[in-house]
Amino acid sequence: MKELLVLYYSHTGAVKEMALLVARGVESVAGCAARVRTVPRVSAAHEAPGPAVPGSGAPYVELKDLEECIGLALGSPTRFGNMAAPMKYFWDSTGELWLKGRLAGKPAAVFTSTASLHGGQETTLVTMMMPLLHHGMLVVGLPYTEPELLATASGGTPYGASHHAGSTGDKAITEHERRLCIALGRRLAEVAIKLAG
Ligand SMILES: Cc1cc2nc3c(=O)[nH]c(=O)nc-3n(C[C@H](O)[C@H](O)[C@H](O)COP(=O)(O)O)c2cc1C
Repeated sequence: MKELLVLYYSHTGAVKEMALLVARGVESVAGCAARVRTVPRVSAAHEAPGPAVPGSGAPYVELKDLEECIGLALGSPTRFGNMAAPMKYFWDSTGELWLKGRLAGKPAAVFTSTASLHGGQETTLVTMMMPLLHHGMLVVGLPYTEPELLATASGGTPYGASHHAGSTGDKAITEHERRLCIALGRRLAEVAIKLAG
């Protein structure tokens, strides 16, 4: 069984829900399993650090997860049109892998959630690709052969899966968004298994 890393940060739960759908898509491909991981919150030096192990939910990611998995799905809520600081902080710790080219040639995909419909889904997805491209990863998006991409009135982009959560996070993941999350995981796993031979 080959594993794909589904790595997400989520503060109020929307991106976590998306991560589980992406993982479902990964596991719909024969021979593929999802390894779901998250990152801890970050705090300034004068603030109390959080626990080393999360109280519940996915374990915290380690660099070896990136090395061991044959592909990566990366999810973060938008923060002013960019990925959230805890996820960026994690990527800033991957210099050693970059130096050794450990991720070069592996496929990757991205997903995000926003409060407002035009609040930066696409900029967040595209800027999340930057560290992945520096690592030499091969970015996989969503093609318009997925019918939900044309039909959606909320999230879902060719750059990756997305969700419009509403200003209070009250909007549930729509059927179109849900299917596109699963499609992204499935497409990523199909590409990864081909590349891994
Ligand atoms: C500091 C901060 C900045 C944010 N910036 C944006 C933004 O630029 N556009 C937007 O639509 N939502 C923004 N949001 C809202 C979150 O991205 C949104 O609620 C997201 O769905 C939360 O995902 P989560 O439930 O996985 O934590 C911001 C939230 C915070 C706390």
